[in-house]
Order: sequence, then C-alpha cells, then structure tokens
Amino acid sequence: MKKRFLLVCIGIVCAALLCSPATGHAKRGLPDYVIEKSYGDNATSGNVLFIVATYYGSTYRIAEVIAEVLSAEGFKVDVKLADTFVGDIAEYDTVLLGSNIYIEDWNDDARAFLDEYQTELAAKKVAYFCVCAVLGSDLGGKEEEYAANYIKKIAEDYPDIVPVADAAFAGAVDYKILKFKDWLLMRLMFMKSGNWTDYAGVVSWAYDLSDKLQ
Ligand SMILES: Cc1cc2nc3c(=O)[nH]c(=O)nc-3n(C[C@H](O)[C@H](O)[C@H](O)COP(=O)(O)O)c2cc1C
Repeated sequence: MKKRFLLVCIGIVCAALLCSPATGHAKRGLPDYVIEKSYGDNATSGNVLFIVATYYGSTYRIAEVIAEVLSAEGFKVDVKLADTFVGDIAEYDTVLLGSNIYIEDWNDDARAFLDEYQTELAAKKVAYFCVCAVLGSDLGGKEEEYAANYIKKIAEDYPDIVPVADAAFAGAVDYKILKFKDWLLMRLMFMKSGNWTDYAGVVSWAYDLSDKLQ
C-alpha cells in the first residue's frame, strides 16, 4: 500500500515536471531587459527615485512607460531595482515605488525598501503602485475591490507615508517564463495566462502624477 502511494506521488511529480515548460530554465532570474536606467538628463522639474520590484518583468515594463512620461515632463528619473537598492535617498525630491503582487502581498523587496526608508519617505513626495493579476481575472465584479485592498494594505502598514498618488495596474502572467514553483502554484489556482495591462491608463496616470509633482 505504502509502495503504491509512493509510486503515485512520484508519478504526479514527474508529470508536473514534464508538463512544465519552465522546467528547463527553472533557475532563470529576471528578464535581461530589467536593468537600472536613468531618464531625462536635462531635468527642470525635479528628480525622482523610481524603485521597481519585479519578478518577471511586467512591473518593469509599466515602470518604463511611467519613466518616459515623467522625463518628457521634465523630471530626471533614476530607475533602481528594489532587490539590490542600498544608499541614500536624500538627493531625491520624489520617490516612486512600483511592485508586483505575489501571493496576496507586495513583493518582499518592496516591503523591505519601505521598512528601511519609511522615516525619510514620510517627509518626501511619494507615489506607489502595484501590478497584479486580479485586474485581469473574472472575480464576479470584485476585481477592483481586491486590487484596492492591495493598496490599502500598504497605506495601513505605513500610515506615515502619505502618497500623492497610488494605483493598481493589471499585469501579465506568462507560463513560459515562470519558475517551476510559481508555475505549479498558478496552475493549482487555475490562473489563466495573459497580458492585461492598459497602457493608455498607465500613461494617463503618469501625466496626472506629473501634474501633482510639479
Ligand atoms: C506565484 C504567483 C503568485 C501570484 N499571486 C498573485 C496574487 O495573489 N494576486 C494577484 O493579483 N496577482 C498575483 N500574481 C500575479 C502577478 O502579480 C502578476 O503576474 C504581475 O504582473 C507580475 O509582475 P512581474 O512580472 O513584475 O513579476 C501572482 C503571480 C505569481 C507568479
């Protein structure tokens, strides 16, 4: 009986491994295009530190669009990655944080950044947004409510940081690039794949943000 149970378990694991297109590159890290970058050298409107926390790149793609808009509006924008960021934020007028949502919470690196710099952030202009899949899912009309709860979480956990703007954007799920454990988790949750980002909405949010920062 025990032997049969063991064989069934091994069978399930092998089937999952074989079916997973991500198995061959399970240790792959961030996509190559996710790099630290600066936008807008001739800034007239102020300088922005843009911290991006991403696992698979869709948050970064959204950040690129926002950074382009802000630099066109006269800001200097330094895009830095949350997982490696250290240093002084004093030189920046504004701090912008973008994070993916991972298992009902903000990326750990985004939270670590907020933990580390919350005192300084409380005295600065701050804006934050999250990128999630609920906004691309069918949750019987509750999608916006779920997404709003992600924002609320951060507002409640860091009450001294009062953002000039916040947002939740729909992100993307691509099974081909997920690490195996994430792939399995998403399959178990019957999450569909897709890219749901409304880039026109992102651009419009970025222009609103620029107005608030001027
Ligand atoms: C393992 C895993 C768990 C996730 N959990 C959630 C979640 O709880 N809520 C949600 O809205 N989206 C969830 N997502 C979806 C991501 O937030 C979404 O795919 C986002 O675009 C990923 O951003 P990134 O490409 O910058 O990492 C999850 C994705 C993965 C892979």
